[in-house]
Amino acid sequence: MQPADPCLLVIFGASGDLTSRKLIPSLYQMHCAGLLSGATQVLGVSRRPKSSEDWRGELKSVAQKHCPTFDDSKWAELAARIHYFAADAVKQADWEGLKREMGRLDESGKCRGNLLLFLSVGPELYEPIVEQIELAGLATEGKRWCSLNPADRSWQRIVVEKPFGHDEVSAASLNRALGRVFEEESIYRIDHYLGKEVVQSLLVLRFANSIFEPVWNHRYIDHVQITASESIGVEDRIGFYERTGALRDMIQSHMLQIMAFVAMEPPTNFSADHIRSEKIKAIDAVPVVSAASVPLCCALGQYSSGSGGAGYAELPGVAPQSMTETFAAIRLTVDNWRWARTPFYLRTGKRMAQKRTEVVVQFKPPAADLFRGVCPDDARLEGNRLVIEIAPLERTTLRFASKAPGAMRVAPVEMGVDYAKEFATATVEAYGPLLVDAMRGDQSLFKHRLEVEGAWKAVMPFLNEDSLEVRRAMHSNYEPGSWGPASSTELMARDGRAWHNPPKSSP
Ligand SMILES: NC(=O)c1ccc[n+]([C@@H]2O[C@H](COP(=O)([O-])OP(=O)(O)OC[C@H]3O[C@@H](n4cnc5c(N)ncnc54)[C@H](OP(=O)(O)O)[C@@H]3O)[C@@H](O)[C@H]2O)c1
Repeated sequence: MQPADPCLLVIFGASGDLTSRKLIPSLYQMHCAGLLSGATQVLGVSRRPKSSEDWRGELKSVAQKHCPTFDDSKWAELAARIHYFAADAVKQADWEGLKREMGRLDESGKCRGNLLLFLSVGPELYEPIVEQIELAGLATEGKRWCSLNPADRSWQRIVVEKPFGHDEVSAASLNRALGRVFEEESIYRIDHYLGKEVVQSLLVLRFANSIFEPVWNHRYIDHVQITASESIGVEDRIGFYERTGALRDMIQSHMLQIMAFVAMEPPTNFSADHIRSEKIKAIDAVPVVSAASVPLCCALGQYSSGSGGAGYAELPGVAPQSMTETFAAIRLTVDNWRWARTPFYLRTGKRMAQKRTEVVVQFKPPAADLFRGVCPDDARLEGNRLVIEIAPLERTTLRFASKAPGAMRVAPVEMGVDYAKEFATATVEAYGPLLVDAMRGDQSLFKHRLEVEGAWKAVMPFLNEDSLEVRRAMHSNYEPGSWGPASSTELMARDGRAWHNPPKSSP
């Protein structure tokens, strides 16, 4: 990866959890890997007063905890370029001083006017802060100003965290607000799932091998499952979760992105524009489920009490008749020539049997069963299965049929690759490569406006009044430590299929 352009990275929400736990440790990792420009300056902005020195101290102890090979001298190099400025980012009066500080750091750091603004604040602040950025006249690239001399050109980009909107309408409104100030090529809608190596390796698996693409379609693939299960509950994020739920938190954002990588057509080349336009088309091909089909295409749940923990509905701050789902499974299709309505089942939940994020590509059984009547157990041959594990382990396994020793018998066997063992590298925090990409102007792993709006469109029937019947029946409908409610098993059984629920000790 080539190093990033020099720039001033301004993080709004500097006192927050995301900044200290993810952004700064990942910047430190990128610095150690030599991927940050030596001129990069970091300015944290939030309201509580503290000095840059104090902030560096706070950040250091968190970074030490999160980086197993923490090196004091490497940290000192980065820390010298980390600064703090106390300001209310939605108060115009505070922007005068903030702009001065930004100008000072840009000049002393030789950042060449390059500015990366990261919105790491609550989503209700995104639009007001963008408005202040406009009033401060900070976005000068693109439609506003462009020097004829390329050497003088600077860029200004904005990174927007999830949740990107609360529904289809609010996402479109946020897109319009951003579009009034920034060009689309300067807007980086971040999804840290896309920074995970194994998600990107899905593209390599599909397009750098010749054996998968010819069978990557409805003729050979029976269905696709995408699961993101967590064994923990909502923990201390009750307020956030009660407003959000599993569909908004996971399916609309991360899981539809993974689905787009599985479903998309091969891009013409490995450039952001080409990759994103294929993802847009894949999401656009997902038909919106009709109101009548919602109960047949989704299963929602709330975990009950058990294993020493309170049920979701018993948590302080959760309404007794809360309609927020902690589990969601939905069935979508992709209505195009490649997929011809092949089902994609997306499932996510809290307090489930294990923490596991994976894509399961289930192939159809062979068209003709040569071994019928020959094998003693006259079972039907199973289809091949490709499992791409994204977390906690990064592994890919392919199941295929093999002859068991002795009498003629067909038995499934697996071959696989464990990325950590194969490449002997530690897992890198996903935010690091994404921040470097934003500094290099590479939007391949960031979402386009149309992808976000398309994903909202696809999940809205499961969120709006069409889902009320399912929601009314979901209270405490699954045990902690299970794979979700019975309705989730039924969702698959109706189609003659079953979830891939591996035992915990699965190799
Ligand atoms: N945490 C995660 O792992 C995670 C993961 C994915 C996405 N996100 C998203 O990232 C964003 C930040 O999450 P978070 O968990 O870091 O939230 P957080 O812990 O609540 O931090 C947000 C910070 O914003 C600051 N802030 C609030 N109002 C401000 C204002 N008017 N001007 C300047 N700063 C202000 C607050 O500090 P002061 O009180 O000092 O101003 C606060 O510490 C959210 O949108 C969240 O959904 C977070």
